[in-house]
Amino acid sequence: MNILSPSILSADFTILGRQIKETEEAGAQYLHFDVMDGIFVPSISFGLPVLKSIRKASNQVYDVHLMIEEPIRYVEQFAESGADIITFHVEAASDPREVIDKIHSLGKKVGLAIKPKTPVEAVKPYINHIDMLLVMTVEPGFGGQKYINECTEKIREARKMINDMGLTTDIEIDGGVTSDNIGTPLEAGANVIVAGSAVFGGDITDNVKNLLAKMK
Ligand code: DX5
Ligand code: ZN
Repeated sequence: MNILSPSILSADFTILGRQIKETEEAGAQYLHFDVMDGIFVPSISFGLPVLKSIRKASNQVYDVHLMIEEPIRYVEQFAESGADIITFHVEAASDPREVIDKIHSLGKKVGLAIKPKTPVEAVKPYINHIDMLLVMTVEPGFGGQKYINECTEKIREARKMINDMGLTTDIEIDGGVTSDNIGTPLEAGANVIVAGSAVFGGDITDNVKNLLAKMK
């Protein structure tokens, strides 16, 4: 089944809880939470106390995307603060396998992310240990960027690799999704779609329903 994961990076933080609830009521199954440390990516977003506070806003699957150096330092605290899936970047971890095992030992699902310029082969050694592969379709750091078309081929390559290994690992994509281009990553083999500005820009209920209709 295809899943929509609205990224709250583009939400109105003065009414964040209400907006999260609205995405849930409109049918979005996941909620995407972008953590940026100002080192792995040039921007700083939000972190543990915010996650803990909004955890009670909905019953969605909280899909936490860590854009931080050496994520091993924080996975335990994100698990305790309400993450259901913890995704970290292969480029940011000196021992990705250690991070994967740690997240699993906390009873959470593991996602492994790659930036647009990182080849799919970089995650091959880990693919049968993870629950989800995140293929970034913009350079991580900011919402509202344009989908990088060259990444579609990487999604296709990743799906083929996963199929060839006899696995059913989820492929999430993140960045630049609009109601006009959402069919492209889905056709290439992605099944979890992150959308920030396409959900929170304008009428949230209409946006979620419109995106979900195109994901069937
Ligand atoms: C970028 C973040 C994305 C971002 C997507 O670093 O990981 O989750 O919020 O935003 P849009 O959908 O606006 O490109
Ligand atoms: Zn993200």
